[in-house]
Amino acid sequence: MADKDKMSIQDILAACRGDGGGTPDAAKANDESSGAEAAKPAATPAKPAGQAKPAGQMSVEDILAAARGGSSAASGSGQEAGTSKPVASNKSPGEMSVSDILAAARGDGGGAAKPASSSAKKAAPKPAAAAGDKTAPKASAPVRTGPMDTSSILAAARGGAKPGPISKAEAAAQGKPTAPKLTAPPMPQKPAYASPKAKPSKATETRRGFFSVFLGSFLAVGFTTLSLTNLLWVLGLARFFFPNILIEPPSRFKVGFPSDFPPGAVATKFKAQFGVWVTNVEWDGQRQLVALKTVCTHLGCTPNWLEAEQKFKCPCHGSGFYIDGVNFEGPAPRPLERYAIRVADDGQLEIDKSKTFQQELGQWSDTACYVPV
Ligand code: FES
Repeated sequence: MADKDKMSIQDILAACRGDGGGTPDAAKANDESSGAEAAKPAATPAKPAGQAKPAGQMSVEDILAAARGGSSAASGSGQEAGTSKPVASNKSPGEMSVSDILAAARGDGGGAAKPASSSAKKAAPKPAAAAGDKTAPKASAPVRTGPMDTSSILAAARGGAKPGPISKAEAAAQGKPTAPKLTAPPMPQKPAYASPKAKPSKATETRRGFFSVFLGSFLAVGFTTLSLTNLLWVLGLARFFFPNILIEPPSRFKVGFPSDFPPGAVATKFKAQFGVWVTNVEWDGQRQLVALKTVCTHLGCTPNWLEAEQKFKCPCHGSGFYIDGVNFEGPAPRPLERYAIRVADDGQLEIDKSKTFQQELGQWSDTACYVPV
């Protein structure tokens, strides 16, 4: 039996798989093939204390527990046995973690290094136990030389009775059915009303049109009225800052040449625009062109010239005036007034309404109120 401190993980696993007879044989063969290993004891490694299961029925946990605890015990026993060959590892087998053990089993040397007696292990037919076939001759079993992965180690430790997880590629190679690939169900069809290009229904359009016209019309009327009111207020305020202007005809104007007014004629064409009658009358034994004011001296009405009656007649209270303006009937208290008149530089008669002359005051004798002809 090999010293447990010097056993590799493969040796421990092989011993636990039940091919424990093989390990001593392999050890023996190793002893026989390697003279350097002659000092290694050929006895079967003693089971760790408390190990009740047979080696072929040990689970991975048992194996690992045995590898941890048992190795420690074995190490102690190995030391007790006086084995002078040290373990070729940074850690003692009792201090190795599972990862260290697996790393050592894979052969990557990262964990506990293989013991020096690994040369005997290389010759041992361990893969036969990994295949689970205990009846197959160990010498004919294929020897795995490459690093082992975790699943292979566990599968070998289970002896094939409890195969570990395998990859999809391995399952496909073994012809095992793999889990069907889950596919998402297709998305439901988008409803037509959720489409942005979908046109609103006719009823919706009608309602929108009604509300838009209803509200829009009221708002439009309100804002238009408010705008117009504001505009009127602005215009009125602007007009307030301008003075009132009374547009009147000029007080001085020309009426024509003196020859245009024959004796006994009354020019009424200036009544409406200038409020003046131009007459050719005889006053104080002299022919004169005078300008009479068209305002009744009673209460201010406008008399009319009656050509047939050769008089001015007031329509308000019946006052009558002769062609020279002297009152002769009705309530008028005095003759009509005269405006100033003169011959302008161009020979035309020019009337100035800014100056009036009254007969009762003796002003008709003023030469400014007539033009002698
Ligand atoms: Fe002319 Fe009275 S106003 S008569």
